[in-house]
Amino acid sequence: MSMKALLGIDIGTSGTKAALYGTDGSRIASYTGEYSMAQPHNGWAEQDPGDWWKAAADGIRAVLAKAGGTGSVEIAGIGLSGQMHGLVMLDREGKVLRPSIIWCDQRTEAEIAEMDRLVSRQRIIEITANVPMTGFTAAKILWVKKNEPEIYEKCAHILLPKDYIRYKLTGEFATEVSDASGMQLMDVAARDWSPEILSKLGVDRALLASMHESQDVTGLTSSGCAAETGLPSGIPVVGGAGDNPAAAIGTGVVTHGKAFTTIGSSAVVYAVSDEVRIDLKGRVHALCASVPGKWTVMSCTQGAGLSLQWLRNNICTEEMRAAEADGVDPYVLMDRLAEVVPIGSEHLLFLPYLMGERSPHPDPDCRGVFFGLSGIHRRDHLIRSVMEGVAFSQLECVEVFREMGVPVSDMMVTGGGAKSPLWRQMLADLYGCPVSVPSTNEGAALGAAILAGVGAGEFSNLTEACGEWVGKGSTLAPDQARTEAYQPYFSLYKKLYLSLKDDYKTLSRI
Ligand code: XUL
Repeated sequence: MSMKALLGIDIGTSGTKAALYGTDGSRIASYTGEYSMAQPHNGWAEQDPGDWWKAAADGIRAVLAKAGGTGSVEIAGIGLSGQMHGLVMLDREGKVLRPSIIWCDQRTEAEIAEMDRLVSRQRIIEITANVPMTGFTAAKILWVKKNEPEIYEKCAHILLPKDYIRYKLTGEFATEVSDASGMQLMDVAARDWSPEILSKLGVDRALLASMHESQDVTGLTSSGCAAETGLPSGIPVVGGAGDNPAAAIGTGVVTHGKAFTTIGSSAVVYAVSDEVRIDLKGRVHALCASVPGKWTVMSCTQGAGLSLQWLRNNICTEEMRAAEADGVDPYVLMDRLAEVVPIGSEHLLFLPYLMGERSPHPDPDCRGVFFGLSGIHRRDHLIRSVMEGVAFSQLECVEVFREMGVPVSDMMVTGGGAKSPLWRQMLADLYGCPVSVPSTNEGAALGAAILAGVGAGEFSNLTEACGEWVGKGSTLAPDQARTEAYQPYFSLYKKLYLSLKDDYKTLSRI
């Protein structure tokens, strides 16, 4: 007899993860295929959608094989999750027209001014619930229209990263509210495309996908995808969610007042709300949540895991070699080095702006800084300082949440960075509240699989599903003495951006 299962596929920035879960929530198999990110110019970031699809198809075949093949497992539903805001453009035949301009790309400063001119800043905020953002998809569409008119001419479909994988699996052009909110083309309160924004920006509605709630079935796997994935045809594929709204489900953050932090390539603080809550200064985003009738307040630090990965690849080559020889994760070795460095990294501060920043400083021109570098500092100080800088950025965002009256008093944490007890403890000490991991750190892929379970009728709703599948794992409590020790560094950290703001503009113009 075959076992019933749900498949979650998460299209991340460093790799795509396919994970197969039994209907009791236990993980049967998982596989991650990695790829790289191209930076053709300072501040640009692109990926090849073909790499995502190859990694997804490899992952699906791998988890099916690990589960004993399609004869042993019956997949009741598939959920997709993925990096948000990326622009995928296809021609009439469904062929990719250019590399995807992904979430952390910052090339669109001129297009933000254009959006202000075409729509007015006030109307953009009223309708899309966000100030115009360089990282969001609308500005990227305008950039291609202006700079690559011959590509725009051929464009027949505009999709988000995970929705491209849906197209490859089902042949359908569909999206859902949580990810599509980050395109800046939606009326976020109405949970649908905004005819006013589309007409003022000159984006044809016909280019966009059909809109769904995250848990709705958007199509069935086609016979065409069988050869590449090994999946039988006819499996329901639900809307799914952007990676952060999917991680919300994977951490059980589905009701008003609950919050989590994710440290992946980016870092995000995410809280669920019963109503749309807008920050007029654009320090945090407002999006439709992956739960029907709910919205979210969300911050995004662009260079979180991405900063540590940069340090690993460029400075910690010795740890990478040692890790390979010992068969361990280099981040585990880096964690060990950072653990013994005192709070404040002996007067070394890091600003994590390698890819510019969004929260709480929407600024495409700022860049990373080590401040206070001295002859005393070694690699271990750099590692701790990067981790502290990313954690300071989370607290700076949490301060905005608190100022907006969004409660943050009990935090879940997920993403690759959550594997580090040191990083989790930093967050607990800085937030001044307990920080817990879910019983399994599965995050977005699990959230996508739960959405598939709701869509396929395995659960009656998301709250019930999370109650059954998502438990709380270990909790770290804040330590008052450490909280106080971080304070002078955090105050200085906050001042540094303000001091450098104009100099960043000067640097970008040289
Ligand atoms: C959120 C954001 C990132 C990406 C990549 O606004 O841009 O978190 O989703 O993970």
